[in-house]
Parts: sequence; C-alpha cells; structure tokens
Amino acid sequence: MKPLSKRRKLPDMELDLGCEASIRDPAGYFARAREGGDVQWSDRHRAWVLLSHAEVAAAFRDHQRLSSDRMDTFERAARGRSEAFHRAVEMLHAWLNFRDPPAHTRLREPLASAFTPRAVSGLEARIRAIVAGRLDALAAAQGPVDLSAEFARPLPALVIAAVLGVEGEERERFQAWSDDIASLVFSLQPGAVEEEPVARAAQEFIAFFERHIEREQREPGDSLLSFVVQAEGDRLSAIELVGLCTLLLFGGHETTTTLLINTLATLLERPDLRAWLREHPGADETAVEEFMRVGGPARTMPRKVREKHERGGQLLRPGQTVFLCIAAANHDPAVFERPGEIDLLRDPNPQLGFGWGLHYCLGANLARLEARIALRMLLERFPAMRPAGAIPAIRGGVMGFGRRPVPALLR
Ligand code: HEM
Repeated sequence: MKPLSKRRKLPDMELDLGCEASIRDPAGYFARAREGGDVQWSDRHRAWVLLSHAEVAAAFRDHQRLSSDRMDTFERAARGRSEAFHRAVEMLHAWLNFRDPPAHTRLREPLASAFTPRAVSGLEARIRAIVAGRLDALAAAQGPVDLSAEFARPLPALVIAAVLGVEGEERERFQAWSDDIASLVFSLQPGAVEEEPVARAAQEFIAFFERHIEREQREPGDSLLSFVVQAEGDRLSAIELVGLCTLLLFGGHETTTTLLINTLATLLERPDLRAWLREHPGADETAVEEFMRVGGPARTMPRKVREKHERGGQLLRPGQTVFLCIAAANHDPAVFERPGEIDLLRDPNPQLGFGWGLHYCLGANLARLEARIALRMLLERFPAMRPAGAIPAIRGGVMGFGRRPVPALLR
C-alpha cells in the first residue's frame, strides 16, 4: 500500500492550471491531468490541486478541515501602514467569502435574507429596463460595436447599483474606487500593494457608503441593500455594512461581466448555437447553466488546510494551500457526458461555477437572471448579429479567464 503522503508526479506533463492548453481544451487537458490522480501536489502552484467533480464538490462542503479565512494575510499587509489603509482592511473583515464560521454565519445571514429567490425575481422588470437601455444605445451606434465594453461591462454595474440603491451620477464614482481597492483584494502579495491609492479609495468609499446607509436608515428605499439595513442593520456595525456593499459591488460585477463576455464570444463564433438559441427561448435556463459550465469566470478557488487529513489518498497538512479546480470539475466525464461539447439542453447540469456548500454564491440567481435576460433581449433585438472580424482567443490564468474585445455587427 502506498504511503498516504507520497506525492505523485505525472511523467509527461507538469500540471499548470493557468496554461493555454487548460484554457483552450479543458476537457482534454484535465482528462490527461487526472491520470495522475484526482488529488495531486503541484510544485508549480505549491498547492494541492483537486481535479475531479467529486473531490472539488466534497472540498467545497468541507469547511471544517479547509479554511477560507484570509484575514491574517490582509492584516499582515496592513502592518506599519496608515490609518486609512487599516480602515480598508477593516472593511474586508465583512467579506464573508474570506471568513470561516462563526464570523461567516453572522455576516451571511443578513445578506441571505435579502437575496431570496423571490426578492431576486422582483428585480426582473428593473433588469429588463436596464438591458433595454443598453440595447437602445447599441442600436444608435454605426458600424461594429465591442459587445464587451458596450454591453457586458456596463450591465452588471448598473444592476448592482440598483441592488445597492445607488443611482445616477453617484454610480460613476464606483468604478475608480473599485479598481483601486481591487488591487489590494486580488493581489497575490497584498503586502506589496502601493499604499496611497488603496488608502484614498477606501476613505472615499467608506465616507460615501456611510452616508448612503444613513440615508437608507432614515428614508428606506426599495433596494436589496435597504432591506438589509432595515431588517438586520443593528446586527452589523457601520463598517461591516460598508464592507458588505463593497463585497456585493466586486462579487457582482467583474464575474457577471466575464460570464457575459465569454458567452457572447462563443455565440458569435458559433452561428449554429446562435440560430438554435434564437429559435428556442424555452432553453434559456439550461443554456445559461451550460455557458456557466464552459465559460464561468471562476476557474479555481483556494482554501487552506486547517487540520491534518486525508483526501483522495493523499495526506494534507495544516497550512498547505488547496486549489479547488472548478474548470476541471466542470469537464469531468464521470459527471458530464461529452464534457468538451456545448449542449444547451444539458440537464442535470451540476456545474460548480458558483461554488458549493457554505460559501455558495449569494448572487447566483441574480447572475443567472441577468444573463438570461441579456442574452434573450440581445438575440431578439439584433437577429442578424454576427462577428465583425476575429474574436480574440481566450486569455487567462489559474483563477479566471476571459475574452475581449468582442467585436460584432448588429445589423
Ligand atoms: C457569473 C457571476 C458570478 C460568479 C461566477 C460567482 C462566483 C462565485 C463563487 C465561485 C463563489 C464561492 C466562493 C468560495 O467558495 O470561496 C461566490 C461567492 C459569493 N458571491 Fe458570487 N459569483 C457571481 C455573481 C455574484 C453576484 C451577482 C453577487 C452579488 C450580487 C455575488 C455575491 C457573492 C457573495 C456575497 C459570495 C460570498 C458567499 C459566501 O462566502 O458565503 N456573486 N461567487
């Protein structure tokens, strides 16, 4: 019997979750990679990598032994920095995706009570109006348009602004702050992040949302944020409420944009899928699920080993990093027949692009609704839509991937 801790290495390939082959042909690449085992140590990533659907789904559910907590990394990054930088990190304490229970539970409950399926479907009319507005703007354009910049990017920003109850010009100020704070949150080395932009953005962001939340307390609106503030606000501190706003802003924006971009790029490249989808509006739900499976923006989710344990015949030790490879899981032939093919009627489709278990994406239903409405209304408004030149190849890395620009002729 093999010792548990033995790290198997593939003879002819070095596992690289961000390589071009894994992005271009995930079904083929991960099938070869899985020959080395469903759970493998990667020297390149200095992490355990989980490659089968069963292992990734099990790891998403195993918050006892695998931790999501990243607060110590951010706190280390804040050491010796300004008060404003500390406030930015304080705000991140409310990012429940970086927390374990019990903090996670306390932060998730208020949001979960606002993001009910009913409340989300209540946003449908609003989303339709937002999409119609973008389509009017596209209709006015002459010649080719870049669907990534003109459609996929603004839509989720407008929807999330509606969720937060922030309208008009105020919305414009989001973007710059978001970019600066993103440099801290998504940095692989938060300690090396330049201080000034993060500190300034965090200060302005906090001041803006504190005022906004106070206004919601005085004069409640009909946004989901207003609901959180009214119903649960006293269970959260002011800075936690602000932190949740930033989380929704980040969580709901870039991800949904990338899903739309990847889907539109595929539809432009595949006239057969475009024509089929146009003629089968009843398939929107299964189609969006399949687009999430093959083009969902999150390719890998990290965890830290909390306690020594066995997983897939390997011994994992405290402090080690584990990569839950969603892209591999979503192309596992043990679960998905012909995983390399796009089947817009695939059902069941247990794709893991929104995660699973305790941290399952709170915005999954919102993202699905947005994608369904956006695709359907775009196809109906511009039935002659086609590529305007070559669509760029997919580019990406370990964590995510995307394609842009997406040049199209609409008429
Ligand atoms: C296509 C779009 C989206 C994708 C692919 C996506 C993906 C994910 C994934 C994979 C997770 C799990 C993280 C983990 O296990 O560590 C997650 C969590 C989360 N997502 Fe999304 N998301 C999307 C849209 C949204 C939207 C629209 C919102 C909010 C309006 C949102 C809010 C959140 C929140 C708050 C969490 C944390 C949940 C928790 O830790 O309990 N997401 N998302």
